[in-house]
Amino acid sequence: MTFKDLGLSDSLLKAIEEKGYTKPSPIQEKAIPKVLEGRDMLASAQTGTGKTAGFVLPILQLLENGVDYRKRPIRTLILTPTRELAAQIHQNVKEYGKHMDLKSMVMFGGVKQKPQVAQLRDGVDILIATPGRLIDLNNQGFVNLKKIEILVLDEADRMLDMGFLRDIQRIMTLLPERRQNLLFSATFSKDIKKLATGILSNPVSVTATPENTTVEVIKQRIIRMDKPRKTSFTIKMIEEGDWQQVLIFTRTKHGANKLCEKLNNKKITAMAIHGNKSQNHRTKALAQFKKGEVRVLVATDIAARGIDIPLLPHVINFEIPNISEDYVHRIGRTGRAGANGVAISLVDNEELAYIRDIEKLTKQKFDKEIIEGYEPPYIAEKDIKAPKGNGAQSRGRGGSKNSNSKPGNKKHYHTGNSNKGGGNRGGGNSGNR
Ligand SMILES: Nc1ncnc2c1ncn2[C@@H]1O[C@H](COP(=O)(O)OP(=O)(O)OP(=O)(O)O)[C@@H](O)[C@H]1O
Ligand SMILES: [Mg+2]
Repeated sequence: MTFKDLGLSDSLLKAIEEKGYTKPSPIQEKAIPKVLEGRDMLASAQTGTGKTAGFVLPILQLLENGVDYRKRPIRTLILTPTRELAAQIHQNVKEYGKHMDLKSMVMFGGVKQKPQVAQLRDGVDILIATPGRLIDLNNQGFVNLKKIEILVLDEADRMLDMGFLRDIQRIMTLLPERRQNLLFSATFSKDIKKLATGILSNPVSVTATPENTTVEVIKQRIIRMDKPRKTSFTIKMIEEGDWQQVLIFTRTKHGANKLCEKLNNKKITAMAIHGNKSQNHRTKALAQFKKGEVRVLVATDIAARGIDIPLLPHVINFEIPNISEDYVHRIGRTGRAGANGVAISLVDNEELAYIRDIEKLTKQKFDKEIIEGYEPPYIAEKDIKAPKGNGAQSRGRGGSKNSNSKPGNKKHYHTGNSNKGGGNRGGGNSGNR
């Protein structure tokens, strides 16, 4: 199968060739023809398998073949949970669409709104946005979404969990009822799938790899460890392995700052990225890390989803996420597009229950290593319990169970203004992330 066989136009084929892709990935093979047919879709495939091109390529073609408007109304809306992911998808849209006459823009909070408003006035075919700023600008009358033909929720399960659901519901009320809806992610829980049925109309379900699974080429090491010794072990690993590019996940912003400081004290260059940092700092940190100018990026889960750092060799879970899906996404920052990768999780006794949940979700059983000098205190199997208050997998802002938001049909989406805290949002950070 080639990209040409998928029915893509010459201008797209040229851009694909320039990107260096020789053949479509399995999810692209399956998704592209169906998107071109105009179908609604729930698509799932492992991290790093090219889902972005799976929706961007056919959308570009549909838009190019569509109605030729004199003024450009926004015809496609792509929503993402974080600003960094929005920027990355915008970059992809520009690359894949470079031989086409389509305009795209990215919109997110934490930066001045004026340039965004100016861009909107010039006309935009494809808008990639985080929900907060979009609602903000819509409330101010700067964005018209009445001509949306295609809606994409990338990282759809995250977009439909409690942290974002209200914003998404609000945005739905601004869109025409007839439109094509595309939901993409590497993970979908049963609850979220039910919720998705309220958005999708007669959808095709496209799966390239078993849902909620981790990429085989990622070597996963689970190391049981004494909590106070995690920092010294991390430093030792980086130094002894002479690792030059390591992404480290912590659970909290404070934890990220603290670890970052300790690494820098040891002359391991590190920057932190999380929701309390200015957008300027966030952008700089990610860019410098990608370029190899800083050795370590210490991140909360805002860097867990979708971010593509080609050939990133190492991911460390300094703390284990209490939401199992986040584990899949975090380690998926390595081992992308067929490259190798190693993901190391440092697990203290309090986190053993999370590992058990992750094993269940990803249908695998880990060998747990113990390293001399870093052993955790003894704990009996029966004493392994989820830490208090975290039993129901919460994300800080009331849990991710969607308990008070019924799946619902389109009518369910109310028109209430959920943007009371407007200015402070748009980064997709809930709770302490
Ligand atoms: N057909 C292809 N051939 C080779 N590389 C590709 C192909 N399609 C995409 N890629 C590359 O694969 C990498 C991962 O793609 P992408 O970010 O779309 O993955 P994803 O499936 O969305 O992952 P995630 O679930 O983490 O968001 C990117 O660097 C992209 O350029
Ligand atoms: Mg993606």
